[in-house]
Amino acid sequence: MAELRCVVAVDGPSGSGKSTVSRRLAQLLDARYLDTGAMYRAATWAVLQAGVDLADTDGIAKVVVDLELLITTDPAHPSISANGENVDGPIRGPEVTAAVSAVSAVPFVRQVMVARQRALIDESARIVVEGRDIGNIVAPDADLKVFLTASSAERARRRSTENATDHAATEADLARRDHLDSTRKVNPLQQAADAVVLDSTELGIDEVVSELHRLLTTRKAA
Ligand code: DC
Repeated sequence: MAELRCVVAVDGPSGSGKSTVSRRLAQLLDARYLDTGAMYRAATWAVLQAGVDLADTDGIAKVVVDLELLITTDPAHPSISANGENVDGPIRGPEVTAAVSAVSAVPFVRQVMVARQRALIDESARIVVEGRDIGNIVAPDADLKVFLTASSAERARRRSTENATDHAATEADLARRDHLDSTRKVNPLQQAADAVVLDSTELGIDEVVSELHRLLTTRKAA
């Protein structure tokens, strides 16, 4: 597998297991890993740092056009910095999480991020890319497109365990973000027509990773 060029697109809602599965798969394939959600989160961090109102789309665009983003694509050590500052911690905080759907819905923000994501994909021989619009917009020619999902109760259970937060509040927050991410006008979270849908509610990480590896191997052999 290591000698083949390939792009794997992993889309799905929050808490579906995309990040863990994508990183593991990338390691298995000796591939790069791109967390596009981290890019939208870093942009959101910069917007909040600049004190721009979330309704001010021109102000958001100004922050994003000047934004210096550096993201590593090593699946063992994913990391991101914005304007020279490491933001791995802050981008997972509640302020960024609450604001990221609004910032990522701004068409100009998506235009800039999609262009940067495509450039990162182009410079990698093999890469696993996770997000919401990878199969449909960022990498429509991906070798394998996966739509990873899980029941909302299970997704909330995973997130609340991960972040030590209240289950009911986490489920409500996920529902709010799912709604915003799937109903925005530009590039909403949507299953690609040619994506394989995998429901991870009853599956462990290893099972999901093995199934994706099997699917990819089968496709490459066909
Ligand atoms: O995967 P995540 O929860 O870290 O993503 C954070 C937010 O970024 C999510 O609410 C929607 C947005 N996002 C997006 O709009 N498009 C992507 N390709 C990835 C994330």
